Amino acid sequence: MWRPLDVRALPAYERIQQAWNASRSLRIEARFAQDPDRFEKFHLQLPGWLYDFSKQDVDDAVWAGALDLASESGLKGAIEDLFGGEHINATEDRAVMHMALRARKGDVFRVDGKDVVPEVLAVRQRMWAFVDEVRAANRWRHVVHIGIGGSDLGPLMVHRALRRYVTGPEVHFVSNVDGAHLDAVLERLDPKDTLIVVVSKTFTTQETMANARAARRWVEGALGADAVSAHFAAVSSRVDRAVEFGIRPERVFGFEDWVGGRYSLWGPVGLTVAMSIGKEAFEALLEGAREMDIHFREAEWHQNLPVVMALVGWLQVEMGAMPTAAVLPYAQDLDRLPAYLQQTDMESNGKRMGRDGEAVKHATGAVVWGEAGTNGQHAFYQLLHQGTQRIPADFIAFRACLGSDPERHQLLLANAIAQSQALMSGQTQAQALSLGLREGATPERAAECAPHRVFEGNRPSSFSLIDRLDPHHLGKLLAAHEHRIFVQGYLWNIYSFDQWGVELGKQLANRILGDQASGTMGTGYDGSTASLLRAAGFFRA
Ligand code: F6P
Repeated sequence: MWRPLDVRALPAYERIQQAWNASRSLRIEARFAQDPDRFEKFHLQLPGWLYDFSKQDVDDAVWAGALDLASESGLKGAIEDLFGGEHINATEDRAVMHMALRARKGDVFRVDGKDVVPEVLAVRQRMWAFVDEVRAANRWRHVVHIGIGGSDLGPLMVHRALRRYVTGPEVHFVSNVDGAHLDAVLERLDPKDTLIVVVSKTFTTQETMANARAARRWVEGALGADAVSAHFAAVSSRVDRAVEFGIRPERVFGFEDWVGGRYSLWGPVGLTVAMSIGKEAFEALLEGAREMDIHFREAEWHQNLPVVMALVGWLQVEMGAMPTAAVLPYAQDLDRLPAYLQQTDMESNGKRMGRDGEAVKHATGAVVWGEAGTNGQHAFYQLLHQGTQRIPADFIAFRACLGSDPERHQLLLANAIAQSQALMSGQTQAQALSLGLREGATPERAAECAPHRVFEGNRPSSFSLIDRLDPHHLGKLLAAHEHRIFVQGYLWNIYSFDQWGVELGKQLANRILGDQASGTMGTGYDGSTASLLRAAGFFRA
C-alpha cells in the first residue's frame, strides 16, 4: 500500500518555504502591480469554468515549487492507485471507487481485478425502471428521503441546487433524530400518496433507523401493516438488513463498500434526486462528474483543476497556517454546498494520525464553513474583512441568470466580485478619513472613526466563475472538490476515506441508553456528564 509521505523532506518543500518567506511581506495587490501577467498565470479556464487563484498568496517561485512538490510526492502514482482500485482506504481495507458510479457503458473500473461497471450500470437500469414507475404513475405526490450524513447531505444539496429541474414528485429530506424533523415533514403529508425511501449504507445508523421506524408506524397507523411494503423503498449496501426491515427486495437498491458514504450521491443514494429531476438531468450530473474524473486523471498539474485547488488549499494550511476556509457560493440554490463540503472535506481530512501510524507533525484539513452570498455578507463577512485572522475565501458564482430577473443577478455577481476585491485591496486610514469627510462628518469625527474603518486587506480568495448552475456543471464542481480532497489527504499523509472519529460519541450515547434501560448509572461518568444525565432525567438525582 501507499508508503508514508513526508512532504517536508522533499526538495521542493524547502524551495516553497524559502519563496514563501521571501515574498510574505509583499501584499497580494502589490504583486499585481509588479506582474501584469499575474491573472494570466494564476487562473485556469476549463470549458464552462474559470478558476481564478491570482488573489491567493502565490507567486512564480511558490507556485513552481508547489507543482514540483506534486510530482516529487508521487501524486501521479497515487491517482493511478485510486482509479486502479487499490485498497487506498487501508484502515477499512477497501478500494475507493465512487468514480465508477458515474461510468458510461464501455468504461472500465476494476476492484480486486473485477470490472465493476456492468454491475453499476445494471443497478442504474433498475433505478431508472423504478424512477419511471414512480414518476409515470402519478401515484406518489411526495417522497420522504430518510438518511443522515453522506446519505442525506449530498442528495439534499443537489436537490436544492437543481430545483429548477424538478419535474417529479416533491421530495422531503429528514435526517435529524430529533422527532421535530420528521414531524415537520409528515404533518403536511398524506400517507396515501407518500413514498418513504430509507437511505443508509450500513442500515444500522441510529438516527436513520429511528426515523424509519417512526415513518413505518405512521404508514401502519393510517393504512395498516399490509401497506408498508408498498410505501417503502431502500438504498443500502446491506440489502439483507433492508429486507429484514420489511422492504421488498426489488425495492432495495444496493451499492458496494468501495463507495464511501460522503461520496455516494452519484449512485442509488441519489435515487430520490433522480425521481425528482428525472433521468436526463441526473445523467447530465453524472456526465459532468465523469468529465472531471477524466480531466483529473489526464491533465498536467498546472492545468489540472482539482490539483491546482488542492495545492492552493495545501499552501493556505501548511505555509499560511490558516486553520479555516470559507466556502461562499453566490447562488441561493447552492445554500447547502458549505454543509455538504463540510462533511466531504472534514470527515475525510480531519485526521491527525499519519499513514505510518505516527501522529503527523503538521496541520491537516481546515475547518470548512460558509453560507450563500449575499446573505453571508450581512452576517460574518465583518470578521473576514476586519477580524484578526486571515481566512481564505472560496467564491463560487454563475454567469447565467436562471431566474426571472437578470438585474438582480448582476447585483449578485457584482457583490461576489467586489467582495473578493475588497478582501484583497482593503481600505487605508487615509481613504477612510477622506470617505468620512465626503460623507459630511466633521474633521474631528472623521479622524476619530477612520481607524475603525480601516480594512487591512491582503486576505486571500479564489473565484470560480461557472457558466450556469445546471446538472452538468454541478457534477463537475462536486467531482473537482472530491478529487481536491483526495490530493490534500495524500499530501498530508493521512487516510482520507475512513471516519473513525465519528464512532466514540455513538458508542457513549449507546452506553448511556443501555445504562438507562438497566436502571443503573454505570461507573466511569465524570462529574459534569453524570450531573447532566441526572438533570436531563436519565437517572435519579
Ligand atoms: O457520521 C458517520 C457516518 O458513517 C457517515 O460517514 C455516513 O455518511 C453517515 O454516518 C450515514 O451512514 P449510513 O449511510 O450508514 O446510514
